[in-house]
Amino acid sequence: MRMAMFSTKPYDRRGFDAAVDGERIEIDYLDTRLDERTAPLADGAVAICAFVNDDLSAPVLQQLASGGTRIVALRCAGFNNVDLDAATAAGITVVRVPAYSPNAVAEHTIALMLSLNRHIHRAHSRVRDGNFSLDGLVGFDMAGKTAAVIGTGKIGMIVARLLWHLRCEVIAVDPFQDPHLLSLGVSYVDMDEAFRRADIITLNCPLTDDTHHLINAGTLSAMRPGVMIVNTGRGALIDTQAALDRLKSGHLGSLGLDVYEEEGDLFFEDRSDQILADDVFARLLTFPNVLITAHQGFLTTEALTAIAETTLHNVSVVAAGDACDNAIN
Ligand code: NAI
Repeated sequence: MRMAMFSTKPYDRRGFDAAVDGERIEIDYLDTRLDERTAPLADGAVAICAFVNDDLSAPVLQQLASGGTRIVALRCAGFNNVDLDAATAAGITVVRVPAYSPNAVAEHTIALMLSLNRHIHRAHSRVRDGNFSLDGLVGFDMAGKTAAVIGTGKIGMIVARLLWHLRCEVIAVDPFQDPHLLSLGVSYVDMDEAFRRADIITLNCPLTDDTHHLINAGTLSAMRPGVMIVNTGRGALIDTQAALDRLKSGHLGSLGLDVYEEEGDLFFEDRSDQILADDVFARLLTFPNVLITAHQGFLTTEALTAIAETTLHNVSVVAAGDACDNAIN
């Protein structure tokens, strides 16, 4: 059975090449993004595999179906780019990878936090440049600081545990209280109290109508001066313009981002020879106390292996006509 895999990067290919051994699936790796123009490349493929920025709108799904595709395998958890009703109408089953490695994202969250605090990104550039001055590189002890974890699900729970090991006072916000965190002494508080008390805030909740622009001009002004915010959840949890204003005023002490509200037009591609058209993003890059990675929280060997194995399993189960737990339509 042929599976056309869109938006393939070298790291995807390594994971899938290793996992496909022994499966009756032949993968056609395509580096192009899926859209109306490129959908015909999947003609004859029973399954296609797509990532977060591939276009799975109704016209694309109809084209895929007319080319013989009946399985769309997302190699990610989110499915906001898929018109599920159109997929069902076209006779296409959509499957996803609901969880791969919460450790990967949690560890990246802590990496951003520690790097920002101790200015590792700036120190590295200085030393490479023969500048061994320490001026401007003063950090703070993590031990004893109050860290607020917003969302203590699979990822946030591990972030909270790691912060506890760093001897932070960990407070958390989540409608569901994790018993293990409670047993460590983590206290659950409401959002206002978390924002008011925290020295460090980490966003590990999903993007919903409730959490859209959770960090905004109003909530930022209630926070402690010098607060650090790290977002490895979803870009639109933060009103970026409001964060920029607070960075300029000095109230927001530092900002670590692995996600950005307008990342769809930027991330995952080499654009180093292009003019950056996004003025907000360009301004963010000028701050010494802002550290941005391009949605790489998930990028570990273990997570890529789990993504490949689950995706291939999903496709095999659906192709065999069996019910798949990871189907979403
Ligand atoms: P999860 O579903 O296990 O946990 C999310 C938690 O957030 C749940 O406990 C839920 O009750 C809580 N929550 C929901 N609404 C809330 C609210 N208004 N206030 C406080 N808590 C709320 O999800 P998981 O796997 O931990 O992922 C968290 C987020 O991380 C994902 O939604 C995704 O946006 C992001 N993510 C980022 C990746 C990256 O590479 N940077 C990779 C994978 C996920």
